[in-house]
Amino acid sequence: MDAIPIRTARRGDVPSLLLLWSAMLEENAKFDPRLTPHPDARESAAGSFAQRVDDPDEVVLVAEDGRVPIGFAAGKVTPGNGFQVPGKLGQITDCYVIPARRRRGAGRRLASRMVDLLVGKGAETIRLQVVVKNAEAEAFWASLGYAPLEVIFERAIPKPGGTPPSATA
Ligand SMILES: CC(C)(COP(=O)(O)OP(=O)(O)OC[C@H]1O[C@@H](n2cnc3c(N)ncnc32)[C@H](O)[C@@H]1OP(=O)(O)O)[C@@H](O)C(=O)NCCC(=O)NCCS
Repeated sequence: MDAIPIRTARRGDVPSLLLLWSAMLEENAKFDPRLTPHPDARESAAGSFAQRVDDPDEVVLVAEDGRVPIGFAAGKVTPGNGFQVPGKLGQITDCYVIPARRRRGAGRRLASRMVDLLVGKGAETIRLQVVVKNAEAEAFWASLGYAPLEVIFERAIPKPGGTPPSATA
């Protein structure tokens, strides 16, 4: 099979990016209800995607199959925290391929192009977050040489008079 083409996203891709991004959020929420999208998520993301596509500091990529977007990745270079190496961090904020097109190399190609572009912008290290229960994503990033660094712990604060939140399974 031919390699799935990867290209930089354009303004016209914003509606497709939003669909892909929403699907990614829905998938993440299945792993943990604490990640359930906010009802206004899509609306606020619409503006932010338009900005991100135009922002020269951001990288937004689209994977296409027959000119239909089937995946995307987004990232940017940020300064390190000043206390630890590295000085410049390349952060991959999103990487998503629709389920029907997985295991065909699109994710790897998105990640590889993203890293090349972030390194070109000065990144010394690449960092990203994965939902703890997402074993497929963990396997994907591990296959590309990434290793876990930190785990985010979270506890909801009960509202006064409200039902105490149950721990997630
Ligand atoms: C993670 C994700 C982007 C991978 O996309 P993909 O196009 O299927 O990945 P690739 O086909 O390029 O896979 C590259 C390698 O990763 C590993 N891999 C990918 N999916 C895997 C899985 N489900 N189980 C085990 N290993 C997996 C394999 O080593 C694979 O190589 P192989 O197919 O030759 O064995 C995709 O599963 C996805 O969108 N998941 C939901 C969103 C998400 O979790 N994103 C990551 C957090 S940012």
